[in-house]
Amino acid sequence: MSAPLVIAVDGPAAAGKGTLARRLAAEFNLAYLDTGLLYRAVGRRLLDLGADPHGAAAAAEAAATLTPADLARADLRGPEADRAASAVAAIPAVRAALLEWQREFGRRNGAVMDGRDIGTVVFPEAPIKLFVVATPEERARRRWLEMRARGVAIGLAEVEAELRARDAQDSARSVAPLVAAADAATLDTTALDADAAFAAAMRLIRDRIGA
Ligand code: DC
Repeated sequence: MSAPLVIAVDGPAAAGKGTLARRLAAEFNLAYLDTGLLYRAVGRRLLDLGADPHGAAAAAEAAATLTPADLARADLRGPEADRAASAVAAIPAVRAALLEWQREFGRRNGAVMDGRDIGTVVFPEAPIKLFVVATPEERARRRWLEMRARGVAIGLAEVEAELRARDAQDSARSVAPLVAAADAATLDTTALDADAAFAAAMRLIRDRIGA
């Protein structure tokens, strides 16, 4: 029997990965996993404990004992959670603890998974890999609108500075840095709304699978 289909959707923060990955999951009747939530939940645990999110031992322990309830928390988004997630994501023991969990999720029934290293590390054999990008200015604008809609009072300039800092940290880390897989198709969503991004992704996927 062939392996269940995994579609990898990687790219920097607020490039439109989540919206796109959810729609692809519905289209292909696959489960969806936002892998950023795993790192966010680990970071949140450390914040709750008053522990330093850069501390490897406590972060690895949190990663190894994550529960579904941790992933369902309402407070996993926001500047503090963003920073903590990016910090724990640079710790090799945290990534190792979350790796098998992600692989099992995908292997079970197939999945669309969005993150930073799905196509390079988690499922390098995925037949479909999209690398979703947009300019930092556009990504900051989207993130800012999203935060405002949730009632977070924050300036656009601050959002852009945070996003650039997080991009730098995610790209520069030595384990599983944010980088496109050699066989990924890049999709620039800067000038695309959600419908146009979905249509463009479907064209790339059809080209890839020759359908
Ligand atoms: O996609 P996101 O913004 O929710 O991700 C939160 C943080 O987790 C981000 O700084 C990068 C990190 N991350 C990662 O290193 N690998 C993944 N597969 C997903 C997220």
